[in-house]
Amino acid sequence: MRMVDLIEKKRDGLELSTEEIQHIVTGYTDGEIADYQMSAFLMAVYFQNMSDRERADLTLAMAGSGDQIDLSAIEGVKVDKHSTGGVGDTTTLVLGPLVAACGVPVAKMSGRGLGHTGGTIDKLEAIEGFHVELSTEDFIKQVNDIKVAVIGQSGNLTPADKKLYALRDVTATVNSIPLIASSIMSKKIAAGANAIVLDVKTGEGAFMKTEEDAKELAHAMVGIGNATGRKTMAIISDMSQPLGFAIGNALEVKEAIETLQGKGPEDLTELCLVLGSQMVVVGGKAATLEEARAMLVQAIESGEALRIFKQFIESQGGNPAVVDDVNLLPQAAFKTEVPSKLEGYISNMVADDIGTAAMVLGAGRATKESEIDLAVGIVLHKKVGDFVGEGESIATVYSNTEDVAECLDMLYNSVEYSSEPVEKIPLISAVIT
Ligand code: URA
Ligand code: CA
Repeated sequence: MRMVDLIEKKRDGLELSTEEIQHIVTGYTDGEIADYQMSAFLMAVYFQNMSDRERADLTLAMAGSGDQIDLSAIEGVKVDKHSTGGVGDTTTLVLGPLVAACGVPVAKMSGRGLGHTGGTIDKLEAIEGFHVELSTEDFIKQVNDIKVAVIGQSGNLTPADKKLYALRDVTATVNSIPLIASSIMSKKIAAGANAIVLDVKTGEGAFMKTEEDAKELAHAMVGIGNATGRKTMAIISDMSQPLGFAIGNALEVKEAIETLQGKGPEDLTELCLVLGSQMVVVGGKAATLEEARAMLVQAIESGEALRIFKQFIESQGGNPAVVDDVNLLPQAAFKTEVPSKLEGYISNMVADDIGTAAMVLGAGRATKESEIDLAVGIVLHKKVGDFVGEGESIATVYSNTEDVAECLDMLYNSVEYSSEPVEKIPLISAVIT
């Protein structure tokens, strides 16, 4: 097979065979296909798109390009959740124990964050002693025992995706639905998922800025999942403003604990119930989303989800006492209120800008090498649609530096007001099954 012929075929809008796609992915991963040919191929995909079959083949070829985690020793349907990323997104911490309480095994591999706030791994490390380096044997044993374990990314997972993503980044081909969908799904499949629930974010703080694009991506990923034998569902959720109130690692752990106690922010709670219901259904523990939701509510009300969260912390070396005393989490030295300079209804709180304001405090990484400060961050007191009086606090800034002027400027600039009442932004705009 000659790469130039495959480029030409795609350029002319013809469909590539399974073998041809496998050849391209293996050849590129092994260094036999040069960057310039791969770049031309990616651009051809960008303009000509891929059929459903080609997308599934590309995903499986990338998933098979490196190590694949074998979770077959874990009983039950292994359901993974993926969010396309947002500000203050604390759902994984809540969903792990919550879904586990309903009998669905959660064997999760998570990453560290870049930009905005930390990733799930960073948040968990805000709990004293918590470690994410488990041997495969211990990981599997823990999921079989208490139904939930989270480990950091290990091994050589989807090298094809790593190489392709770096090339797409410099050839203006990131923004292609078949390429994004196969990139995300290949990582979930390589991590051993039997079933996948996707939270595709839309809005200013999201990768997909418009609802139309978010829906197209969600349909593409659900199509790939189902075509490759992994039952997949998706929702489209708002990320124009941050999720919940807390943005920052220890602050989000506290918010997750409150949510598991049934006292969490309304939006975060609702998102966890909707995603959790899909996880319980694809995990085969309920027949309908309604039945699943009732099980989740019961797991919160009975305290079972919180009990599993404690067990989960203890199993991974953390101090479970944080659940009953959140003051045991890392504490920031300074607390600064953010009094509103205006009066009115809040009409916009730009998620991206608030995420960046938290990052400058040290809650997120500006570069891969940056150290993060687990204690710092922002807790909002108002969301879009709320009325705020002049001088009333919009947020509290938690910092380890006395000078927070840059963060405050960013926060003030991120908020817009209206003199007329403003409708709350609907959290979930579509459920795709
Ligand atoms: N996230 C991914 O993992 N891959 C993409 O291509 C885009 C976003
Ligand atoms: Ca939050």
